[in-house]
Amino acid sequence: MDRISNSKVLITGGAGFIGSNLADTLIEDNEIVVVDDLSMGKIENLPKSNHLHFFEHSITDYEFMNKLLVEWEFDYIFLLAAVASVADTVKRPLETHEINQNANINILETIRVNRLSLKKLLFSSSAAVYGNDPELPKKETSPIDPLSPYAIDKYATERFVIDYGELYGIPTVATRFFNVYGPKQNPSSPYSGVLSIIFNCVGKDAVFSLYGDGNQTRDFVFISDVVNTLVMLMVSNEEHKVYNVGTGVSISINQVIEEFENILNKKLKINYRKIRSGDIKNSYADITEISKTGYRPAFDIHNGLQEYIDQFYK
Ligand code: NAD
Ligand code: UD1
Repeated sequence: MDRISNSKVLITGGAGFIGSNLADTLIEDNEIVVVDDLSMGKIENLPKSNHLHFFEHSITDYEFMNKLLVEWEFDYIFLLAAVASVADTVKRPLETHEINQNANINILETIRVNRLSLKKLLFSSSAAVYGNDPELPKKETSPIDPLSPYAIDKYATERFVIDYGELYGIPTVATRFFNVYGPKQNPSSPYSGVLSIIFNCVGKDAVFSLYGDGNQTRDFVFISDVVNTLVMLMVSNEEHKVYNVGTGVSISINQVIEEFENILNKKLKINYRKIRSGDIKNSYADITEISKTGYRPAFDIHNGLQEYIDQFYK
């Protein structure tokens, strides 16, 4: 794998699921700065090292962020901080807009105004931008149909990141992650990623609330494939582009529950509830574009779930 080394790296949202797994990978050879308000992330997720500099702050604190960016002169910036739950943004659209969009524009603007030179900035957008447009699988050129404040903010910010890059000569790239799962995804909120909630419910014999009939489909991609892709896109020469990151395989929530039950040899107790507003029916990725950069997902849903479970019990 291509590497990032001897660099100053900022990871916003770095105490969260994807960010902390990324920090684990980069910590050996780099100085890592994490800014996270710990609304979903946990300090225990982070590697213990003198090369890890943690700031418990909101990215909406512009004074703090501007000073940090100017003082550190980062080589690489991963913009991962967000309220990552679609349903949560439907509940509090204005508050989450400040985080999911405006705080990221502030970072771009600070880079522009201060003429900060960096090797690359990456923004984590989402498959949610495609909404319920019927075209499947989703290509980067498929119609955009954002159905929630989350998806609107992700799409707009993705455009800001690409267009700031082109307009002001800043090397940028964006990823549209499909549904990422694996160790360190926080299951504690009703707004957490569905696989972390299912795993938690199976383990504790708790009842799982299934919103809808379970026939909605997703493209679940394992965390280590995502982390490898993040690093690869940072060091590649490609810029000002957006890439789908998934496996190219669609699976229903019912099927994924069955996989879990088979691996753990346990039955999940299910309470069927009304479908959540803003929820997408079907989603999976066309991964042709990202594959051109050398991406090959190493995990399918079966061995990804097995790895997730193995790492939890190890
Ligand atoms: P996560 O919730 O585990 O991580 C996000 C982190 O951001 C958390 O640690 C949280 O505490 C932090 N955060 C939230 N608001 C903040 C604020 N105002 N200031 C500073 N930190 C703040 O979620 P994740 O799954 O690791 O997602 C990381 C990124 O990837 C997010 O931008 C998310 O929208 C995006 N994404 C995730 C998925 C997925 O399936 N997990 C898919 C598509 C896109
Ligand atoms: C997820 C990510 C989002 C990302 C998107 C990309 C989280 C919290 N959400 O959104 O950041 O941008 O993928 O595709 O990481 N469900 C239940 N019961 C539950 C929880 C969820 O039935 O307790 C259902 C949901 O209604 C939905 C499906 O499971 O139909 C997936 O939900 P969720 O994990 O929240 O993912 P997305 O909404 O797809």
